[in-house]
Amino acid sequence: MTDFPSSHALFQRASAVIPGGLYGHTQPAATLPGVFPYFAASASGARFRDVDGREYLDFMCGYGPVVLGHADPALEDAVAGVRSRGLCFSLPSEPLVELAEELTRRIDFADWAVFGKNGSDMTTWALQVAREATGRRKILHIKGVYHGVDAWITPGHGGIIPEDRSHIHSFPWNDADGAAKLFEQFRGDIAAVFVTPYHHPSYAASEFAQPAFFPRLRQLCDEANALLILDDIRVGFRLHNGGSHIPFGLRPDLSCYCKAMANGYAISACVGREPFRKAARQVFLTGSYWNDPVALTAALYTLKRLETENIPDHLERMGQRLAVGLKTAAAEVGLGFELTGPGTAPYPIFHDDANLFKIQKFCAAALKQGLFFHPHHNWFLCAAHTEGEIDEAIERAKPAFAEAAAREGSR
Ligand SMILES: Cc1ncc(COP(=O)(O)O)c(C=O)c1O
Repeated sequence: MTDFPSSHALFQRASAVIPGGLYGHTQPAATLPGVFPYFAASASGARFRDVDGREYLDFMCGYGPVVLGHADPALEDAVAGVRSRGLCFSLPSEPLVELAEELTRRIDFADWAVFGKNGSDMTTWALQVAREATGRRKILHIKGVYHGVDAWITPGHGGIIPEDRSHIHSFPWNDADGAAKLFEQFRGDIAAVFVTPYHHPSYAASEFAQPAFFPRLRQLCDEANALLILDDIRVGFRLHNGGSHIPFGLRPDLSCYCKAMANGYAISACVGREPFRKAARQVFLTGSYWNDPVALTAALYTLKRLETENIPDHLERMGQRLAVGLKTAAAEVGLGFELTGPGTAPYPIFHDDANLFKIQKFCAAALKQGLFFHPHHNWFLCAAHTEGEIDEAIERAKPAFAEAAAREGSR
C-alpha cells in the first residue's frame, strides 16, 4: 500500500503516454523509487504540496530556479501587468534591452548579453561562439560535470554517435596539469575550456577549487588564445549579485546563467567580453519563446530583489545554520553528517557511507517528517527559508537521523 495513491495513479497514466513515465531528473529512479511522491500540486514560500495533499518544507526549490520563494506575491504583482498586455509578440519588447543592460551593469566583465530559455541553450551556444571566435574544434571540460542535454555533453547514452564527442575532452576537477597535457596534445586546436564555479557533481560531495586551479586554467587559455567559459547556471546570482566568478576569483570570457535569474520563469543568459561580440553575432540564436516579456520582466525584478535585499548573504547564513543544526542533530545519535559546498546549495553526505545507504535512508525518513531533501543532488535554499523554517527543518530531521542510525545499527 503506497502513501502516495494519487502520485502513483498519475504515474500509471503517464507511463501509458510518456516514454518511461517521467524523464530526466524527475524520473522515480533519480530519487528513491516508491518512497518519494512523483507529482506536485501547488507551492508557496518555502513549502509545496504533492498531489496527495502532503505538505513539505522544500529544500530543492524546483532544482534551483526558486530563489525568492514559491509564488512570490510581489514578483507575481510585478509581472501581472506585463502578462495582461500579451505574451508572445511578433517583435521583441523593451525588457529584452533592459535586461541586457542590467546584466552588463552587474557582471564586471560583461560587455554584451543574449538570452535563451534553458541552461542547455546557452552552454551549447557558448561552445559555438568559442569555435567561431577561434576557428578551432576542441572543447575541454571537467570530468563528471553537467552542462546540459545536448549531444556534445549529455550524461545519457541514447542517440549519441562517437562523432558528437570526437572533439570533446575532459580532465579531473582541480587537475590543472591534466588540462595542461590536453593543451599540449591538441596544441592550436583548443577553442575553449568549460568550468563551473565549484565542482557540484551528483552522487558526490561538492568541492571548491584549490587556489592555483583557476589562475592556471586562465593562464593556459591566455597562452593558447582559447576561451575560458564559466557555466554558472546552477548557482549564478545565488552566491554573489555579480556572478559566482567574483567570490572564486575567476576571470571568464563568457558566462552562462539560468536557474536563479527569474524565480522559476523560463529564462537563461550568456554574457561575454567585447572581443567575442563579433563571434556572438555570427552564431545564429533564436527560439519560439525567447523574447517572452514576462520572463524578461521576472528576471529584472528577481535580480533587483536579490541585490536590494542582499539575498545571497541570507541564503549563505541560512545554509550555514542548517549545516550546523543537521550536523549536531546527527552527532547526537552517533552519525557523522555534513553539508558540503556553499550554504545556498548544500550537498549532503554521511561519513562511512560508500554505498550511499545512509543518505538514502535518512532522506526517506526525512520525507515522512515533511522534509523534501534529495539524497544524490545538491539541495537549494530560497529567501523564504527564514530562521524559523531552518530550525523547524532541524527539529523535524531529528527523528529521521534516529531512524537512519537505528536501521544502520540493526543491519
Ligand atoms: C551546471 C549546469 N549547467 C547546465 C545545466 C542545464 O540547464 P537546463 O536544465 O536548464 O538546460 C544545468 C542544469 O541543471 C546545470 O546545473
